[in-house]
Amino acid sequence: MKNNLSKFNKYLNYVNNELHIEKVSCESLAKKFNTPLFCYSANQIEDNFKELDNSFKKINPLICYAVKANYNAQIIKLLSRCGSGADVVSMGEMKQSLKFGISPKKIVFSGVGKTEEEIIYALKKQIKQINVESEEELLEISNLSKSLKQNIDICLRINPNVDANTHEKISTGRYEDKFGIPEKKIGEIFAKFQKNEYLSLRGISVHIGSQIQKIKPFERAFKKIRNHVLTLRKKGFRVDLLDLGGGIGIPYEEKNQVFQINKYADLVEKCFSDLKLEIILEPGRFLVGSSGIILSKVIRKKKGQNKNFLIIDSGMNNLLRPSLYDSRHNIIPVKIVKNVKKKIFDVVGPICETSDSFLKNSKLKDMNKDDLVVICSTGAYGSCMSSNYNLRGTAKEILIKGKSITKT
Ligand code: LLP
Repeated sequence: MKNNLSKFNKYLNYVNNELHIEKVSCESLAKKFNTPLFCYSANQIEDNFKELDNSFKKINPLICYAVKANYNAQIIKLLSRCGSGADVVSMGEMKQSLKFGISPKKIVFSGVGKTEEEIIYALKKQIKQINVESEEELLEISNLSKSLKQNIDICLRINPNVDANTHEKISTGRYEDKFGIPEKKIGEIFAKFQKNEYLSLRGISVHIGSQIQKIKPFERAFKKIRNHVLTLRKKGFRVDLLDLGGGIGIPYEEKNQVFQINKYADLVEKCFSDLKLEIILEPGRFLVGSSGIILSKVIRKKKGQNKNFLIIDSGMNNLLRPSLYDSRHNIIPVKIVKNVKKKIFDVVGPICETSDSFLKNSKLKDMNKDDLVVICSTGAYGSCMSSNYNLRGTAKEILIKGKSITKT
């Protein structure tokens, strides 16, 4: 049955009025694994990877999956089989990527607070490159690489002072944000470190924010990056590597209009294809966000003074995004029951905080205790940001492909 869910996940479908993910009914999953449960569609992840990869016509960028979006072992394995590298921000993510099949030659180490221990680990593992966020950090890497006698490729992360027009808490490209090196200092650092024995300053990286839904902020940032490359080259510096970060948004609700991915690829090619650069992308959300759902059960309905609350068994401990970024995820029933009236509900979790709320004043078909619901588009920044708050335990995670289910 065709339905409007395909905007979010092509492998989420109602069959005879019962929700299936891939070829498995959600009801059977709840029986087998209990709720709340993170389920990921393997085909959707593969499709997302291919869609991005195939949208490039003139260049062949290295896609380095931003592991911070979801460090699930099965997902990393799947993406490594697709040919993905990894963008990591900690020793934990580095170890996880290496363990589950990503070659060190495809690992990029980003992040504003790399510790000495982490830098040493990266150098010893001879990963592809480190994206550096300050001159202070570069100096430390230089000293460590010298004492270990290990070479490493470096990109300097530029702060281009571009507003990504996304949620305040996930904007990273303005001067007031802690990320990146101010534009004006880039040339000076290239000059200081260009003859370093162990470091190869090869280029620039940039990441202006996450869940970016319009192409314009990327356009502004990439134009600036192009000019920086040209200026640095004019000054005689070698620049042959660009890391354009992540940030590609996805639709979470029917009303969200996100740019088509080929628009993004066209922009990258328009800005850089003539410059003969190696190009890296670091998408997280785009690759895995749409693939995931949280299968959840109604604990009970509660009638407040002015409101109907639908209390479900997943909360901000499983999915922090609504509490932290006021984000709204589609919530849909597992069974479509005909002739049931719609009602206005606040869908909330069981956690003892008012911010533990998924949807406010949402018109949903009336539901009852033990009915199953699904929170959509929770493949990115869901399980990895979950906590043990209120000691409710963490939700299990499964990857599904067709009829086959893999636990992690
Ligand atoms: N590269 C760097 C340097 C990053 O900081 C990030 C995300 C990415 C790549 C991947 O960005 P993506 O393609 O997923 O947008 N927890 C927030 C998102 C935080 C993103 C942090 N950095 C959320 O749930 O919306």
